[in-house]
Amino acid sequence: MDRRKVCILMVLWALVHLSSPGQGLRALRRTTGGRRGSGLTGQDANGVPLRRSKRGWMWNQFFLLEEYTGTDKQYVGKLHSDSDRGDGSVKYVLTGEGAGTLFKIDEKSGDIHATKRLDREEKAFYILHAKAVNRFTNEALEGESEFIIKIHDINDNEPRFTKDPYMARVPEMSDIGTSVIQVTATDADDATYGNSAKVVYSILEGQPYFSVDPETGLIKTALPGMDREVKENYQVVIQAKDMAGQMGGLSGTTTVSITLSDVNDNPPRFTKTLYEFRVPESIEVGSAVGVIRAMDADIGQNAEMDYRVIGSDGPGMFEITTNRSTQEGVILLRKPLDYERKRQYSLRVQVENVHINPRFYSKGPFRDEATIKIIVEDVDEPPVFERASYVMEVKEDAPKNTAIGSVSASDPDDKNSLVRYTIDRRTDMDRVFNIHAGNGSVFILRELDREENAWHNITVIATEFTNPRQISRVPVYVRVLDVNDNAPTFATNYETFVCETAKANQVIQTVGATDPDAPLGGHRFFFNLAQEAAGKANFSVHDNKNNTASILTRRNSYSTLQKSVHHVPVVISDGEFPMQSSTNTLTIRVCTCDRKGNMKACNAEALTARAGLSTGALVAILLCVIILLMIVVLFAALRRQRKKEPLIISKEDVRDNVVSYNDEGGGEEDTQAFDIGTLRNPEAIEESKQRRDIVPEAFYPPIRRPVLPPTRDNNGDVRDFINQRLQDNDSDPTAPPYDSLATYAYEGNGSVAESLSSLESVTTESDQDYNYLSEWGPRFKKLADLYGGDDSDRDS
Ligand SMILES: *[C@@H]1O[C@H](CO)[C@@H](O)[C@H](O)[C@H]1NC(C)=O
Ligand SMILES: *[C@@H]1O[C@H](CO)[C@@H](O)[C@H](O)[C@H]1NC(C)=O
Ligand SMILES: *[C@@H]1O[C@H](CO)[C@@H](O)[C@H](O)[C@H]1NC(C)=O
Ligand SMILES: *[C@@H]1O[C@H](CO)[C@@H](O)[C@H](O)[C@H]1NC(C)=O
Ligand SMILES: *[C@@H]1O[C@H](CO)[C@@H](O)[C@H](O)[C@H]1NC(C)=O
Repeated sequence: MDRRKVCILMVLWALVHLSSPGQGLRALRRTTGGRRGSGLTGQDANGVPLRRSKRGWMWNQFFLLEEYTGTDKQYVGKLHSDSDRGDGSVKYVLTGEGAGTLFKIDEKSGDIHATKRLDREEKAFYILHAKAVNRFTNEALEGESEFIIKIHDINDNEPRFTKDPYMARVPEMSDIGTSVIQVTATDADDATYGNSAKVVYSILEGQPYFSVDPETGLIKTALPGMDREVKENYQVVIQAKDMAGQMGGLSGTTTVSITLSDVNDNPPRFTKTLYEFRVPESIEVGSAVGVIRAMDADIGQNAEMDYRVIGSDGPGMFEITTNRSTQEGVILLRKPLDYERKRQYSLRVQVENVHINPRFYSKGPFRDEATIKIIVEDVDEPPVFERASYVMEVKEDAPKNTAIGSVSASDPDDKNSLVRYTIDRRTDMDRVFNIHAGNGSVFILRELDREENAWHNITVIATEFTNPRQISRVPVYVRVLDVNDNAPTFATNYETFVCETAKANQVIQTVGATDPDAPLGGHRFFFNLAQEAAGKANFSVHDNKNNTASILTRRNSYSTLQKSVHHVPVVISDGEFPMQSSTNTLTIRVCTCDRKGNMKACNAEALTARAGLSTGALVAILLCVIILLMIVVLFAALRRQRKKEPLIISKEDVRDNVVSYNDEGGGEEDTQAFDIGTLRNPEAIEESKQRRDIVPEAFYPPIRRPVLPPTRDNNGDVRDFINQRLQDNDSDPTAPPYDSLATYAYEGNGSVAESLSSLESVTTESDQDYNYLSEWGPRFKKLADLYGGDDSDRDS
């Protein structure tokens, strides 16, 4: 290819480029404009403003196809300087991006080749610098100039969606053309050139429900009345194709998952027209009788519903509430049921959505109705008293076995069992009342006293004859009515005195009265001087008519010497019927007083009395003294005991030397009697037992006995005695002709202390052995007599 041809080619390239829609050109200008800002073209390297000079270069822009697949290197273009006369003296030098690696220049001809495949999407252009120098002098023939190699786009990238998959929701029943979602695909190819990046959308799957706008990628509904209750989820596949959708364009797809969201387009519907429930009449008020449920094809709040009773043959008996978590209607009892009164109820109930969508009114009524039948079942119920409680009144003087009232209960059930009455004895421990089991009459079993118990509150039990487990109770309040059976007495124990110098008609005491009875109109007491004292009385009684009386003097001056204490009998009576009265004696002491009438001194008797030493006080003092005495005695006893204690403790400390114990042996049967030896050594128990039983034989084996020389006088003495007796017997003409046993009581003349007997060796440790001997002694002696004097020691 000669130079001219190349030039023509370049001119053609340039024309094509410039004629393409302004963008390419603008982009080029922008490129150079941006560079101008860097100052490279505005000024030269020395800061001298560039001026337009003769340009030796033919072009400053080359184009190159991306993704070139040819076998030889791709030719880019040719640099040429006017000063090149073809004599080979000009050398072209290339610098900048990719110079020497991606782009190689033939330094003689100025031909530029690309060495590799280039990808526009990786780098769209390269900026290079070229200059021409004299090969020999290295003198610059042409100033360094910049040029650009632009990579020309081919359609080597398919459109890609920004997401895969897309998720979208659209309400069911939406109108045609309702926007669902917009999908976008991008193409990496040059959008400024050709159609390589021009994307067109189409729907591959999802018709006829949805459509996509080819230009914008907006997905819309394409079918009216899509029903969530029929189909909820749709998988829509959208394709994006570049080259404006033409044949040969590249394409990419995405899936759009579209869910229809619920709208309230379905009313609730009862599953049955008649619901039936059976309930026992004993069911508590407020509890659930039954649960009904209506169905709604919608979900969430579109399925929320309200139930209500719109008609009932038992008004106010039932109520229906909605359980929000289950959307069930719960029928609640509002008033108690009674099988004996009404055995069946019928309710008309309605259900309605809470959130109604007026758009769907046309589909039909948004409520439903059903009938509920409630059948009441009989329950064996306890008897019912006619009243919740009974109050009975009885006068306190009523005689035994008086009927004071009656209670009545009946079985509410159809079979109407008979009722038996009893009194709950826990409420009548003293058995004051009785009840007639058949007719409920209450009797008193003993006399009552209002002043002791004004009320007797008891419980009466009613039991069904046929089913004794059916029990009811009722409280019975028995009020004991007052009868005037108590006489009034002085209100307190009056301590009264009169001054020796008292004048007549002085009030020296005002007395009141009490009466445990409780008359309706309150107490009214009457006071009088007792009749027998009226004549020669030294004091008078004046009834104040307000339940008090004044005690007045009747003469001037009283003398201690004449009479130190006066006793005034006052009769107090109440105004009730039957009238009760009592005579109360007022004790008046005569005292010396000062001029103001203050007591100064009374006689001895009076003084004691004044000190308040009434019998009660005296008894109290006496008690105190006794208690004091007892304390003293107790204290002394304690001290004695305490004195003992240290002794015992010290004894314990020296237990090896002194042992004190307080054990009385249990007599001869007590073979386990306490043994001191065990205190020191428990094994001694066994040892001592052995000694008791075995030692006598072991120490004195009968065989060895005769060998022992007679060491004691008494041995001989006893032997002599025995021999003597034996002789006497043998020579006794009255003796029987056969061998016989003769007994003698001879203890010998030895002393216990000197005996060698084994019995003595156990001494204190075996008191019971002595007991044994003392009881059995006589027989033992007989044996000794029989066998000779050797054994007589044992008797000692
Ligand atoms: C609603 O019903 C559920 C299930 O039966 C139950 O656990 C819940 O306690 C009920 N809620 C009310 C308020 O009754
Ligand atoms: C119940 O029976 C008793 C004994 O037969 C009788 O005294 C009483 O009056 C009766 N009471 C009633 C309320 O009939
Ligand atoms: C008995 O009941 C009456 C009336 O309710 C009451 O006033 C009284 O205090 C009660 N008595 C006793 C001992 O519970
Ligand atoms: C009244 O007092 C006189 C002496 O002062 C006495 O003798 C007489 O017995 C008293 N009368 C009565 C009723 O005590
Ligand atoms: C009762 O009457 C007397 C004399 O009239 C009077 O002094 C006294 O205060 C009255 N007592 C009461 C409690 O009213």
